Amino acid sequence: MKIQVNNLDDLPGVADKLLAFAGNQKIFIFDGEMGAGKTTFIKTFCKVLGIDDTVSSPTYSIVNEYKAENESVYHFDFYRIKNIQEAYDLGYEEYFYGGGICLIEWPEKVEELLPEHYIKVEISIVDDSARIFEFTSI
Ligand SMILES: Nc1ncnc2c1ncn2[C@@H]1O[C@H](COP(=O)(O)OP(=O)(O)O)[C@@H](O)[C@H]1O
Ligand SMILES: [Mg+2]
Repeated sequence: MKIQVNNLDDLPGVADKLLAFAGNQKIFIFDGEMGAGKTTFIKTFCKVLGIDDTVSSPTYSIVNEYKAENESVYHFDFYRIKNIQEAYDLGYEEYFYGGGICLIEWPEKVEELLPEHYIKVEISIVDDSARIFEFTSI
């Protein structure tokens, strides 16, 4: 599924579509260059999931946990991870297989640890405020 947005105001509509596209799948990976809008979109997606807490980039902590009504949402940013051992030390299995929603930025850094199935969200920059979102079910 491919959607072009022209500005930030279009993101809530994309978040609704992603939620519908995902069905029961709880693992989401976000691909796109630095500045594509992964964190920005995740903030909007978290609102759709019912999270009121401030969502920020977890760059310095690798994972942030947010509470939705009756489930947990884990937001990962693996950009700064140095080796796969750091993911083991973090206890990635309990997150990826624990039944909560996982939103993963820079998944290529932990590629060999990703579950067999997930939703891939690719974001490409068109211009300053326009983006193309593509959803794939893997
Ligand atoms: N349509 C859009 N969708 C997402 N971000 C956008 C859009 N238009 C402009 N931006 C801007 O692009 C930047 C994206 O940054 P960020 O979300 O941190 O990217 P990433 O997490 O992919 O590195 C933000 O400054 C955001 O305001
Ligand atoms: Mg980011």
